[in-house]
Amino acid sequence: MITKRLDISPENYGDSIREAARILKNEGIVAIPTETVYGLAASALSEKAIKSVFTAKGRPQDNPLIVHISDIDMLYDVAEDIPEKAIECAKRFWPGPFTMVLKRKEGIDKSVSAGLDTVAVRMPDNTVARDIIIESGLPLAAPSANSSGSPSPTAASHVLYDLDQKIDAVIMGENCKVGVESTVITLVTEKPRLLRPGAVTVDQLKEILPDIEIDRAVLTEPEDKEKVSSPGMKYKHYAPKTNTYLIVSEREKFVNFVNFKKNSGAVCFDEEIGDIEIPAISYGNSSDEKTLAKNVFSALRKADELGVNTLYIHAPSKTGVGLAVYNRLIRAAAFKVMEL
Ligand code: TXA
Ligand code: MG
Repeated sequence: MITKRLDISPENYGDSIREAARILKNEGIVAIPTETVYGLAASALSEKAIKSVFTAKGRPQDNPLIVHISDIDMLYDVAEDIPEKAIECAKRFWPGPFTMVLKRKEGIDKSVSAGLDTVAVRMPDNTVARDIIIESGLPLAAPSANSSGSPSPTAASHVLYDLDQKIDAVIMGENCKVGVESTVITLVTEKPRLLRPGAVTVDQLKEILPDIEIDRAVLTEPEDKEKVSSPGMKYKHYAPKTNTYLIVSEREKFVNFVNFKKNSGAVCFDEEIGDIEIPAISYGNSSDEKTLAKNVFSALRKADELGVNTLYIHAPSKTGVGLAVYNRLIRAAAFKVMEL
């Protein structure tokens, strides 16, 4: 299959949005930019299109997708028994990097939710994404547009690296400004629960949901992989091809540790890269969690090109969006975390 590159510079914008919508209405699949990561979009009403998404990504069948909408009214086409708190959250955090799991409405294809009776919903803060939803008139199921297991794509080039010739089209948009996937909470459990941390932080969530619980899978390896509440959290994920360790330590210890390593590379912070003597890539200043989030996945992709056998990543703090970065990195390291 030839993957169409859809250009969205001003002179081609309208044509490209219409072409993306046409493909989606015909049950094709299109990679679209969002503020978090690129998504691989398909009609949430089409079993055939959803199947193509799972096939293109090589995604495990039991891992459900997020449905994307363009305004709050559309929420009622996707979910039912919507609690008052969900509306409050929607008004506060949408459009934005925030996803709610609610009861699935009939019409949304079961395969979107991998057979569960719930559905995850989000309104992205990206005009291109929302214009495509509006133009197609469809709720769009969209997982991250990477091959399953590899780092999430924050640039159109990442999408093409993983999925060229496996999908109908890709929007050649800008790099994603947030860089890590949305915060996912569930509102179908007795107490609201954080399933995946993102740029909407725990402190922000507590303003509306003071009793929110944090799922164990956010910071630790799931023990019983059959029972995790967010199936996506149980897989090795976001991982470079290189054997990877996450290192929790202060600056000096990290630098001394990696400088003794042979055939190895480091993913580190701006303020220490000058002292590191092995091949290294910085993902930002350690005190600037937003920049770390924005750069983390592209740093993991670049790390695979260092030509080393082992990779040591310096762990960020777990505050603010740092929690989301840390959550992705323990998975990138397949839970091989070392404290120095
Ligand atoms: O920022 C994002 O959320 C991006 C962009 C494209 O919107 N999408 C994304 O999708 O990250 P994906 O498929 O890579 O991750 C979806 C996560 C998975 O961890 C999945 O298990 C969880 O959401 N999820 C989806 N539906 C669910 C459901 N019904 N119940 C529990 N977890 C669900
Ligand atoms: Mg993903």
